[in-house]
Amino acid sequence: MRFLATTSFRCDFGIAFDIDGVILRGPVPIGGSPQALRRLYGNSGELKVPYLFLTNGGGIPETKRAKELSELLGVNIMPSQVVQGHSPFRNLLKKFENEFIIATGKGDPALVMSEYGFKKVLSVEEYASYFENIDPVFQYKRWKTTPISDMKTPSMPRCDVSSDRIKAAFVVSDPVDWGRDIQVLCDVLRSGNLPGDANRSQPPLYFAADDLEYQAAFPTKRLGLGAFRTALESIFNRINPKSLEYVSYGKPNPFVFKNAEAILRQLQSSSCLDHSENNGMSESHPFRTLYMIGDNPSVDIKGAQQTGHPWFSILTRTGVFRGNDNDAEFPADLVVDTVEEAVDFILKRECIS
Ligand code: G3P
Ligand code: MG
Repeated sequence: MRFLATTSFRCDFGIAFDIDGVILRGPVPIGGSPQALRRLYGNSGELKVPYLFLTNGGGIPETKRAKELSELLGVNIMPSQVVQGHSPFRNLLKKFENEFIIATGKGDPALVMSEYGFKKVLSVEEYASYFENIDPVFQYKRWKTTPISDMKTPSMPRCDVSSDRIKAAFVVSDPVDWGRDIQVLCDVLRSGNLPGDANRSQPPLYFAADDLEYQAAFPTKRLGLGAFRTALESIFNRINPKSLEYVSYGKPNPFVFKNAEAILRQLQSSSCLDHSENNGMSESHPFRTLYMIGDNPSVDIKGAQQTGHPWFSILTRTGVFRGNDNDAEFPADLVVDTVEEAVDFILKRECIS
């Protein structure tokens, strides 16, 4: 895939799209998102504008998510254009590549981590299945759980839960079974080893994001990863003498926006050629403007504003924010109804509509 290369168009702007509440609500495209994205491609399907998705969601590998989004939105999306809450977990590979780690969240958290290269990862679901009655209300749960035999990726080395010590825990996406996950995480984080063992130091705990609420398929906001973190932290701190220690990734952390800028720059320099000035060699131009289109003032808009130049924030009314004017606490540079309106504004402002 190549960006349109002309001497007049130098790709000195880029766009980051939030997903939940801007592009999709649940699995359904909203706000004219397919039409909006199509405007970023030329007639032969080549990309005209460097853009990516910057979501705090996740639970599936970026390769799969890119395929899923391409099908839903009718454009060809590359895995490098998908930055999820857990994408920065890759940077922890050096530390934990061959260590025993556990991962939880909706989707397939163990697959996400193993695709990043972590060699010894178990989902909390699988880990819990080795300890009979670890979840005291398990027998009252009416939903189906996965049999152990179906849980493991065959190529993964076996982890011996009785002898391997857990070196870190990762909350990859919104947990499905909060009760079980809070119980199991409290067990292993308190003991630093097997559930019920004497207290050792707490293994590191990483969250992919910290959204208190987000826009899913239900008409009003739903509790997100930040709500789960609050619940876990408050319970842990009541039953353990030392407070819970953790690191949260995701927006609004400015490093996420800096990382997005670096990825957009790679997309720009690998594809945006200005043949007349550079003998056909790729060259990256500093971005004049990077647009963040989001629905959550305290996540998308706050993050873009804290990061500063070259970010310009656009708030849509299709998700968490539904106000008439601007958000009082984190006012965006522009408020629009939909993502389609946002893209229209950008292309007119950049004189390429
Ligand atoms: O679980 C997803 C949620 O935390 C927010 O996703 O796309 O609005 O950043 P997004
Ligand atoms: Mg959102």
